[in-house]
Amino acid sequence: MAEKRNIFLVGPMGAGKSTIGRQIARQLHLDFYDSDTEIERRTGADISWVFELEGEEGFRVREEKVIEDLTEHMGIVLATGGGSIMSKESRNRLSARGVVVYLETTIEKQLARTQRDKRRPLIAEADDPRKVLEELAEVRNPLYEEIADITVRTDEQSAKVVVNEIVEKL
Ligand code: S3P
Repeated sequence: MAEKRNIFLVGPMGAGKSTIGRQIARQLHLDFYDSDTEIERRTGADISWVFELEGEEGFRVREEKVIEDLTEHMGIVLATGGGSIMSKESRNRLSARGVVVYLETTIEKQLARTQRDKRRPLIAEADDPRKVLEELAEVRNPLYEEIADITVRTDEQSAKVVVNEIVEKL
């Protein structure tokens, strides 16, 4: 990790990117950022409001800009939104500017961790959240895999164990 000092967490909603990212940052004495939190800070609105006012398209423009700006930093841990990797520009930025860690999980865990959440309008408003998550996974999982330097499962072990596994692999 000598020349690549940033750690970028990618993966689907409910994989544990924020929880694990915060713990890695604490352990390695790095600054922690979360792209959703940064969007909320800049807009003064929560994610569901941004979706409502600007649509998913408007949200993605903001997300791409936040990733562009945050990847200018060095020495950070960044938890990215699950859909951020749909942007080729963002995928390139993440690959070029740090170690990309893909947190893999199951649809069951995602469902359990993301119920009634203001930050996840894509599933909060869906009639069939499982179907939405399955469809997103089909499109996005290959993209997470494509840019991952390290892949870790988060559904079978505690956050602490996952954090240690990541730190060892860096
Ligand atoms: C999204 C994931 C969310 C948030 C938004 C859209 C997605 O972030 O950016 O609700 O498209 O998968 P998390 O991955 O942190 O839940």
